[in-house]
Amino acid sequence: MASSSNAQWSSRWAFIMAAVGSAVGLGNIWKFPYEAGQGGGGAFVLVYLLFVFAIGMPVLIAELSLGRRGQLSPIGSMRKIAEAERKNSMWQLIGWSGVIGSFIVLSFYSVIGGWTISYMVDAATGAFTNIDKEGAGALFGSLLANEWLAIFWHAVFMGITIFIVARGVEGGLEKAVTVLMPALFVLLIVLVIYSAITADFGAALSFLFTPDFSKLTFDTVLQALGQSFFSLSLALGSIMTYGAYLTRDVNIGKSAAIIASADTGVAVLAGLAIFPIVFAYGLDLGQGPGLIFATLPIAFGQMPGGAIVGTLFFGLLVVAAVTSAISLLEPSVSYLEEKTGKDRRKIAIIMGIVIFIVGIASSLSQGDNWVSTLKIGGYDILGIKDFLTNNIMMPIGGMFTALFVGWFVSRKSMMDELAMEDSSFRVWYFLVRFVCPVAIAAVFISIMFL
Ligand code: TRP
Repeated sequence: MASSSNAQWSSRWAFIMAAVGSAVGLGNIWKFPYEAGQGGGGAFVLVYLLFVFAIGMPVLIAELSLGRRGQLSPIGSMRKIAEAERKNSMWQLIGWSGVIGSFIVLSFYSVIGGWTISYMVDAATGAFTNIDKEGAGALFGSLLANEWLAIFWHAVFMGITIFIVARGVEGGLEKAVTVLMPALFVLLIVLVIYSAITADFGAALSFLFTPDFSKLTFDTVLQALGQSFFSLSLALGSIMTYGAYLTRDVNIGKSAAIIASADTGVAVLAGLAIFPIVFAYGLDLGQGPGLIFATLPIAFGQMPGGAIVGTLFFGLLVVAAVTSAISLLEPSVSYLEEKTGKDRRKIAIIMGIVIFIVGIASSLSQGDNWVSTLKIGGYDILGIKDFLTNNIMMPIGGMFTALFVGWFVSRKSMMDELAMEDSSFRVWYFLVRFVCPVAIAAVFISIMFL
């Protein structure tokens, strides 16, 4: 990983792992299941999968190639490419939206990251032993009610993230992702098997894979669109920044296919691990952000060796969250490094602390205090940040990214950058020119007018 603005990945594999590390995180294991629960299951999942492959993957390819072409921060790259293509310099707004959006996401992502660390400690100290539905609810409630503790874990999470970004993550990140990501994958499969044997697998399967389109509203479609971008780390600069560290010999199309498949696989596995427990214990499907914290402890509390498996699971989830958080800190750090020419370490520490402080409000908004009573349109502070980024900035940023590469960058530049087979290029080009912008615009227009 880069320790200066012209750094490069040590190998194709290291890049893919870092990108998978960015994509796979709380979005897959924490967010996807609760959104699927709130969105009514099968129909949401189907629409989500469609968005991942028809819209997310083409935008992923677009962002990686813009990053590699620009070789700078998202703002610098967009400005440079727009200039090279003799297009309006306003296109750099895509970069700005990414740098600002990743800042906002990290300021609540780190709060959930903190909860995950707290749960790792709970698992290790036996807090899950024989816990039931009420007990699991009470455990989560007590974390939220204890604001100082939640902020403490939030600080620990940001501390780890800052530490890695500041050190220049060369060996560290690459090693962490190449070993620990596969470990998380294996553990998830173990959990799915355990859930399948002991809980209500049949109900989970039919909930997740039998689409009931009557449950689909334009709002849930937009939610699924945003989630497909969130999960793939799109439209907020993370992937563009990683693309800037990419060497010319890497095949972007193939890499994108690997990243999207791994990311989707983890999300589906998480759903398959969690929903059998939700159904077997009659938990609330639509309870939102607390879903995994209220379900998984029950499974860990009952399985043999559950303290160890639970500690490992939440530990690996922390790792997955940290590798994503790194990619959320990277856009603003790379921009400020480029802009000020100052030491990367200092910038990472300062930005990290600023994001932590801004994040305190997100943490408090989940507790029981005056901050949690501040609401706009029914959303608390964490919810507003999530809504603004997930449902507005990401889809719009993705739409403009697709328009830019599809209509404003020359076809020749893109062909040259992607070096794809002719037929694959044509499919991709059609998707970014027509399908992505039209589909995203259609979702927005239906929400506004229907
Ligand atoms: N994709 C990560 C996850 O699923 C989160 C993330 C990292 C992200 N970088 C991003 C989300 C950029 C949106 C944009 O946990």
